[in-house]
Amino acid sequence: MNDTEITGDSKAIVTNQPGVHEKLVEIVNKHIAHPSQKPIQAHTQQAFDEINEIVQAFSGEVILDSCCGVGQSTRLLAKQNPKALVIGVDKSAHRINRNVDEVKLDNGAGNVENFHLVRADLNDFYRLVLAANWQISKHYILYPNPWPKAKHVQRRWHGSAVFPQIVAIGQALILRSNWLLYLEEFKVAAEILACKGEISTVNVTQPLTPFEAKFHASGQQCWQLHIVKN
Ligand SMILES: C[S@@+](CC[C@H](N)C(=O)[O-])C[C@H]1O[C@@H](n2cnc3c(N)ncnc32)[C@H](O)[C@@H]1O
Repeated sequence: MNDTEITGDSKAIVTNQPGVHEKLVEIVNKHIAHPSQKPIQAHTQQAFDEINEIVQAFSGEVILDSCCGVGQSTRLLAKQNPKALVIGVDKSAHRINRNVDEVKLDNGAGNVENFHLVRADLNDFYRLVLAANWQISKHYILYPNPWPKAKHVQRRWHGSAVFPQIVAIGQALILRSNWLLYLEEFKVAAEILACKGEISTVNVTQPLTPFEAKFHASGQQCWQLHIVKN
């Protein structure tokens, strides 16, 4: 099992970090001062252009579900917000294309239609969303890959070059993880960009995602960071 695959009985996160990464503030400031100039990959540009037409033609609330995996949360959020357009994004074709019937959905959420699943790399997609000025009410990032080894801090979203754009998107950002330190670091990083958030425990009744279900079934606490913009 590696950092990105948590299967079966989930083990608690093991990290060699005693607390917030010592270089986190330096890394975030570097990414603020030097925005990524990396070219956008063609497949993400094409996927964005297609979904952008739909988003621009829609006048209601738009919800972004980043790292949506098989799209269970995308469908549930669409069900819970019937007037909204919910966009789920994941880079894994395998996950995005998984048969809907395989995805466990309560309350008939498999029948909702106000959502789209997009296969794209968020490192590029976020930059396109910001440039196109999508008006996103809520941005969910549910159970991103934790990358718990200290040397992998820049693979966490708050250590990535696209972090300033992530924080700039949406009126509210909802991030969940079974690793509290991930949320604490994200909160510290967001504060550098003048965004304040609150961390709370997730009371899992109906799991929003397969990873949430797995962590809950394994007796692990799930956490949420909620950032609301002024
Ligand atoms: C741990 S899984 C969580 C999936 C789902 N949110 C859940 O809770 O069941 C993390 C997901 O992030 C996706 N991911 C990681 N890096 C990504 C990137 N750069 N762009 C898009 N998706 C990414 C992976 O493909 C994977 O589906």
